[in-house]
Formats: sequence, C-alpha cells, structure tokens
Amino acid sequence: RATGWVGGGAVVEGGDGGWDADDGAGVGVELDEDVGADAEGVFLSEGDGEAVLVILDALVDVEGGEVGVDGDGVKDIVGEEVVVSCHGVHREGLGVKGGVDVGNPFDTDLVVTNHPPTSDVISELSTNLAILGLLEPLDNPANIALIADTGTTAIAFETLPRITRAQSMDALSSQATLAGYQAVIEGAVLLPKLLPMMTTAAGTVRPAKVIVLGAGVAGLQAIATAKRLGAVVHAYDVRAAAAEQVESLGAKFIELDLESQDQTQAGGYARELAEDDQARQLAALGEHVATADMVITTAAIPGRRAPLLVTETMVEAMRPGSVIVDGAAATGGNCALTRADETILAYGVTIVGPTNLAARLATNASQMLARNAFELITHLSDEDANLLVDPQDEISAGVVVASGGSVTNLRVRELLENS
Ligand code: NAI
Repeated sequence: RATGWVGGGAVVEGGDGGWDADDGAGVGVELDEDVGADAEGVFLSEGDGEAVLVILDALVDVEGGEVGVDGDGVKDIVGEEVVVSCHGVHREGLGVKGGVDVGNPFDTDLVVTNHPPTSDVISELSTNLAILGLLEPLDNPANIALIADTGTTAIAFETLPRITRAQSMDALSSQATLAGYQAVIEGAVLLPKLLPMMTTAAGTVRPAKVIVLGAGVAGLQAIATAKRLGAVVHAYDVRAAAAEQVESLGAKFIELDLESQDQTQAGGYARELAEDDQARQLAALGEHVATADMVITTAAIPGRRAPLLVTETMVEAMRPGSVIVDGAAATGGNCALTRADETILAYGVTIVGPTNLAARLATNASQMLARNAFELITHLSDEDANLLVDPQDEISAGVVVASGGSVTNLRVRELLENS
C-alpha cells in the first residue's frame, strides 16, 4: 500500500459539464485564482475557474494513519497561497496540517489517485465522475470491470502507449526513475562498505561492485546513481537495445549466451523468455551475481509475475554482507527469497523487498505524477476543459480503460475474457 505521496495536479475549470470542481468540493487544495502557473507543481488551466489540487492518497485506505500529506509539504510544492483541504473522513488519517474539510471527494468531476480504488471507493463512484491514476489495469482487470459497472470513466497511466508524444504523461517512467535512484540509496545504507574507491592514509579502499538486473527506466537510473556514487557497475537486460544505454552510462553490459538475443516486443517492453533460455540465463547470471557487493533488480514483464533472476543458490554463493534490493518485490520479486516490504538476512546477505520505492521520495513522486496527470488531462480535454474519449486517438484509446459502462481498453478486455 502506498504511503507518503502527497499531491497531484488536476485541471478544473469553470464551464458546464467539464472538469469542474463543485464549489471547491472534493479532496483538494483550493487555490487563489492568481496563484497560477508560477507556483511549481500547480497546474492551473487558463481562465477564471477554480483549481483544485487533488490529494492523490485521498482514496487510499488510511486507517493505519501512515499516509502523510503534510500541509507544509504540499505548500512547498504548490506555493504559499494554498489552503490544504481534504475530505473529512480521511482528514485525520491523512495528517493534513491545517486541513479544511471541503466536502465529498466524489462530488467532484475528476479524482486523481496513485492507487487503484478499493471496493469501498468503487461503491462511491458514479457516471459523472472520472478517475485517473495508477489503476493497475493489467494486474487487476477485474477491478476495472467493477469501475466500468459504475459508469465512471477510468483513465489508467499503465496503458499509455509508449510513443514520443506521450512521454510527458508517462507516470510509470517518472515513478520508475525515482524507484531506481532510491533502490541504490537504500542498498548503500545497508551495505557495510563504501561504494566509491577511496585513497586514505589508512590505505586504499576498493570500490564496491554493483550489478543491476533489468535495465529499463528504473534500472538505468539505478546504474546512473550507483556510478555517481563511485561504484563499479555491471548490468544486464534481455532487450538488446539496453546494451548501448547501459554502456552510455559508463557501466559494463553483461552479455549472456542465449538462444534468442533480443526479447523486445512492441512498445519497448520485454517478452518472457522461453524455458530453456530462462535456465541458461540463471546459470550464466549466477557467476556474475556471486561477485557483486550489491545487486539491484528491476526486471519486469507488464501484467506478469516478475521473472526470477536470483535463485536461492545464487544468494548462497554471494559474499556475506552483500545486499540485494529487489525493485520487483511488488510483482513477486526477481529474487527467490524476497519478501515484500521486509528486510531479511539469508546466508549473510541482506535482501530488501520494497514495494513502493518512489513513495519514499514523496515530494518528487508527487510533483512528477502531478505533471504527468496534467499533461494527460490536457491531452484528453477540449478547449472548454471537457473530457473527450476519442477511440481514434492512440493515447485516448490506450489510457481510457472504462467508459460509458464498459471496459474499453482492448488489452484489459482480453485479460478479462481469458480469466
Ligand atoms: P519494465 O518496468 O516493464 O521492465 C524493466 C526492465 O526489465 C526492462 O528493461 C525489461 O527489458 C527488463 N526485463 C524483463 N525481463 C527480464 C529478464 N528476464 N532478465 C533481464 N531483464 C528483464 O520496463 P520499463 O523500464 O518501464 O521500460 C522498458 C523500456 O521501454 C525502456 O527502457 C525504454 O526503452 C522503453 N520506454 C519507452 C518510452 C517511450 O518511448 N515513450 C517511455 C518509457 C520507456
């Protein structure tokens, strides 16, 4: 469950039937009209309407009280003029300082969330509402079917096509960037060693060796971060294109002798390896992993369990004191021993399984998600800020997963039919 994410921007403008905020109703931050675009992270539409900054975690179950929306933190993002406000039910749990209850979030036109809605939330949804966020349509298509039944328009970042003009809307990439950075930072704290080489009066310390498995968006950021911290970095991915990207960051690409050298499929994502290649991959990776001080894994196949890349035998062969940060813990883990949201010690190796690394960088996670949401909403809206669902538009056809009472995204429909 997500913790610690703060705000997200939503364009809400005066006008009929559009993305209006109803008298400031909704979970949000009311802005003075002229706060405007100067305030970093605030995305006001032009015109005289009112803007509401939806607090993304408003829909998360906050019973544990862990979700921190700090009024001051939000102000850092959006500027001093804001009034932080949120729905009374969630207010206490959200921990908003100086919060004002502005009414029912479901009276608004658009809710931006970083989390799929729970069944309680789904029961509040209705035809007039749109919900935009990380809705996990490929991992949990049945939930999208439930949202569709309410008549709500559901817009999911996960099914955004990976085309150049959609890059600014790509929340998976923005959050993966943060996760890759944070994986190295957390690993570095747990590693009983320096990452950089250091020449001191007490002798020369050799740099640590970091291996990154999965060199997509998160992996490349992990490589860049580990390099900046002075580690020697090696990396591996099943997509052939990753080799050049890894090397351009100054890391060494690990070449494995597999039957099929390139597993790239449409959209830049990887395809699952054939069984014999999987076995060969594990055998070959074992030698490399045994020499690492830190292993960061980020390998994923959309809509599937994370591929197994580090077996128990491989962990056993690692030096005591080594660290594995499993960035794929949320989808089952790349390491056989990973336990989601736990840190364990096995064969002297510390294995961390964080499921929401980006949330630890709440300020940036929120800012970037807000920007992605803003760009997507802008793309999907007409000049009067009305939501347009246009099946002819590649971006709209991808992200609008439910509309008018039906599941509209083809991949999600296929998953539902085959389930
Ligand atoms: P992801 O999060 O689905 O997967 C992470 C990485 O794991 C991928 O690089 C994948 O190839 C790798 N992987 C999967 N199975 C593996 C295995 N068995 N062994 C080793 N590695 C394995 O993917 P992510 O990071 O979201 O994106 C992948 C690529 O998509 C990017 O590197 C980029 O080339 C492309 N992309 C394109 C965009 C655009 O054009 N707008 C935007 C974002 C990404």
